[in-house]
Amino acid sequence: MASPRVISTISELRAAVRELQRTGKTVGLVPTMGALHEGHLSLVRRAKSECDVAVATIFVNPTQFAPHEDFSKYPRTLEADLQLLATANCDLVFVPSRDEMYPPDASTYIAPPQVAQPLEGVCRPGHFQGVATVVLKLFNIIPADRAYFGQKDFQQALVIQRMAADLNLPVQVVVCPIIREPDGLAMSSRNRYLSPRERQQVLAVSRALTSLQEAVGRGERDATELKLQMQNTLRAAGIERVDYATIADPMTLSDLARLDGPAVALIAAYVGTTRLIDNCLLTAPTGSPQDDPAQG
Ligand code: PAF
Repeated sequence: MASPRVISTISELRAAVRELQRTGKTVGLVPTMGALHEGHLSLVRRAKSECDVAVATIFVNPTQFAPHEDFSKYPRTLEADLQLLATANCDLVFVPSRDEMYPPDASTYIAPPQVAQPLEGVCRPGHFQGVATVVLKLFNIIPADRAYFGQKDFQQALVIQRMAADLNLPVQVVVCPIIREPDGLAMSSRNRYLSPRERQQVLAVSRALTSLQEAVGRGERDATELKLQMQNTLRAAGIERVDYATIADPMTLSDLARLDGPAVALIAAYVGTTRLIDNCLLTAPTGSPQDDPAQG
């Protein structure tokens, strides 16, 4: 189990990647903010299985946090992160300083695509401008063949896919499944903020999504009814501060009133002072009696 090479400057990283690509190696990029868990490692393993070399980045990006958010307390666990990356056979890790990524005179930002506007765009204005800017910078610093993101940040993955398509970026954006704890909680660096009591309470979030999938499996198509069901599950667990618990079109994120095709259910809620997000894709069953009003 070799430790990954750690690089902190853009020039050194560019030289290392250029040398790898000169020898015909393909590169998979896994951007992270550190505080790594099994979800991140699944991305690195996928990158290693599809590319010759895996490059992870660890940078807590200040431009995607609003002033009142958790930038200063965001967990920074570099030593543990490097050990975990070694277990996943990561080859290179880019750990830049704030000034390396944003020199004091930097003033250019990306206007994110339309799909950035609803949901997180409403609750966290400016967030996706920061995400799109740092991810584009990372794509420019590391000309990877593929870049890997988790489905847990569903809207973020859409924003990055759209940005890559709109700006003709020569990178394939790969979205990987959510990794969950055995009890269903979606893995997140922010889970470590939860007290033991909140850790129990938060299970209502994944439970709301699984009950929803079950209701859809039984043929329920009324999205208003399904949203209410999610909200009730959250409220029954004492989760009162819900930014959204909704069902949307998985390409545009526009709100759906009925499930007549692919859909995604998304939740953002506070458990104590910790804001967590989760989601699941929904496929409305076909061929059930409710498909055909004539049979109803
Ligand atoms: O998902 C994250 O960890 C971050 O938003 C990302 C993509 C690394 C950009 O800072």
